[in-house]
Amino acid sequence: MNEIVYEVAVPAPVMPGLRVAILGSGKMGGILLQAFLKNNLASAENIFATVQHGDRALALSAQFGVEVTTDNLAAAEQADVILLGVKPLQVPGLVEQIRPALTTDKLLLSFAASVKTRSIEEAAGCDLGVIRAMPNTPAMIGAGVTALCAGRFVTPEQMMVAQRIFHTVGRTVVVDEKHMDAVTGLSGSGPAFLYIIIEALAEAGVNVGLPRDVATLLAAQTTYGSARMVLETGYHPALLKDQVTTPAGCTVDGILELEEGGLRVTLIKAVKRAAIRAKELAEG
Ligand SMILES: NC(=O)c1ccc[n+]([C@@H]2O[C@H](COP(=O)([O-])OP(=O)(O)OC[C@H]3O[C@@H](n4cnc5c(N)ncnc54)[C@H](OP(=O)(O)O)[C@@H]3O)[C@@H](O)[C@H]2O)c1
Repeated sequence: MNEIVYEVAVPAPVMPGLRVAILGSGKMGGILLQAFLKNNLASAENIFATVQHGDRALALSAQFGVEVTTDNLAAAEQADVILLGVKPLQVPGLVEQIRPALTTDKLLLSFAASVKTRSIEEAAGCDLGVIRAMPNTPAMIGAGVTALCAGRFVTPEQMMVAQRIFHTVGRTVVVDEKHMDAVTGLSGSGPAFLYIIIEALAEAGVNVGLPRDVATLLAAQTTYGSARMVLETGYHPALLKDQVTTPAGCTVDGILELEEGGLRVTLIKAVKRAAIRAKELAEG
């Protein structure tokens, strides 16, 4: 299959001298770590990452040339911005563990689903800025979108820093915290829903006789192009849909099948269910 080159949505931000800790450098933390290095957000000697297992720390350290340990407190002590990337239930315990390193001039940036800024502030025990972020996995190719919301003590400058940090992996949007679980259900879980749609479209292509690699390319590039049309024209998706739908043509027949199959309602229900579950994650 031909290689598809995707644009990186936002130019590289550079913040000279910024010291960043990523506590919990798993799938999402690892994506961020690589993006920080690739975009020169901070120099390698100013990035301090942690994981739970010593052997993984060694492997990551060797792979990326940054300090990766299992010592959260030491990493937090060395950083101005401390990212929290462990599982939601582990966040309060982790914050209490690094409490001696927390001062009001530092910024805590959690990208754990479901965990409220208020519970992080309480675990921190001082009035420092806490920002909650919800990135998504297209961050891996710089095409992610991250929603950010501010805790009680965040300054506009700190929010700017958080936006610049997440610009290394795509776009950002700042929302009120009450919307964060909805964001999790839509853009956090959304890539999984869209992969299923792409997979189904490709399967459909195979069903009507196309080779699988051609069908997958057509399905994925069509999804990508349609998303760009929405973003770049600013037109309502319904208007763009109408442009494809010739009277008595083939598209309208396909749309009738989609409506009869309940695709629209099913997607709405999927996002709603994911958002409800997102609310529960921090409670176990
Ligand atoms: N994956 C996504 O699409 C996505 C999207 C948005 C937000 N998030 C959020 O990102 C967070 C992590 O998710 P993930 O998918 O990246 O999970 P993950 O791959 O399991 O990463 C968790 C990381 O935390 C490390 N860890 C566990 N306990 C630790 C401790 N006490 N101190 C330091 N590190 C510790 C683990 O270390 P080891 O590697 O040694 O086990 C692992 O590297 C979650 O809160 C999730 O809600 C994920």
